[in-house]
Amino acid sequence: MPSDDAVQEVKRSPATGGVLDLISNRWSPRAFAETAVTDAELTTIFSAGLWAASCYNEQPWRFLLGRKEDPVWTKIFASLLAANQSWAWSAPVLFASFAKKTLTHNGEVNHFARHDVGAASCTISLQATSLGLHAHGMAGFNAAQLCEAFQVPSEFDAVACWALGRRGDPEQLPEALRTRELAPRSRKGADEVVFGSVWGTPALR
Ligand SMILES: Cc1cc2nc3c(=O)[nH]c(=O)nc-3n(C[C@H](O)[C@H](O)[C@H](O)COP(=O)(O)O)c2cc1C
Repeated sequence: MPSDDAVQEVKRSPATGGVLDLISNRWSPRAFAETAVTDAELTTIFSAGLWAASCYNEQPWRFLLGRKEDPVWTKIFASLLAANQSWAWSAPVLFASFAKKTLTHNGEVNHFARHDVGAASCTISLQATSLGLHAHGMAGFNAAQLCEAFQVPSEFDAVACWALGRRGDPEQLPEALRTRELAPRSRKGADEVVFGSVWGTPALR
C-alpha cells in the first residue's frame, strides 16, 4: 500500500499560485478507514456548512446524518446504487442532503435551492479536509427510496448522498476503483471556463 502521504501527494491539485492548501488537499476518496468520526468533528463540520451563503438567506439545506451501521447510515446505504455501495460500505459516516423547494418569505419556487445546498456541501467538505477528513459526494442513489425511508416532507428534494471519514487503504477497493484512487486528478483549464467579452475566449491573462 502506498503510504498515506504518497497518495495525498498524488491527489493534491498541482500548485497554482496562491490557491489555499485546504482547497488543493480536498479530493474524493473511495477507500475509508474504520476510525469513527467523533461527535465533536461532526459538530464542527456541519456547523461550518451553516455559514454558506444562500439566496435570501433561506438556508434551504437539510441533512440526514448516519454513523456506521446505525439505522440512518443503513437506510442511506440501502438507497445507494450498487456501484457506490461497492466502496461506500467503508465510510464511517454517510449523510444525505436535501433542498427546501420554496422560499419561506413568499412561497415561490426557490430556483437556487440546489445551488445553495451545493454551497453548504462544499463548505462542509472543506471543513472536513481541514480536520484531516474527506467527503465524497454521490449522485448515484435512489431518491424516491431515500425519501420514503425517512418520510421526507414533500417540500424537500433529495439532492445528494455523501460519504465522510478518514482515508483508508486503496487495496480494499475493487481493482478498477483502486486504479482511480491512485491516479492524479485533472481539471479543465481556466481558459476553457472563464470567458471575456466573447463567449469561449479566455478572460484571464
Ligand atoms: C454532486 C456530486 C455527485 C457525485 N456522484 C458521484 C457518484 O455517484 N459516485 C462516485 O463515485 N463519485 C461521485 N462524485 C464524485 C466526483 O466524481 C468527483 O468529485 C470528481 O471526479 C472530481 O474528483 P475530486 O472530488 O477528487 O476532485 C460526485 C460528486 C459530486 C459533487
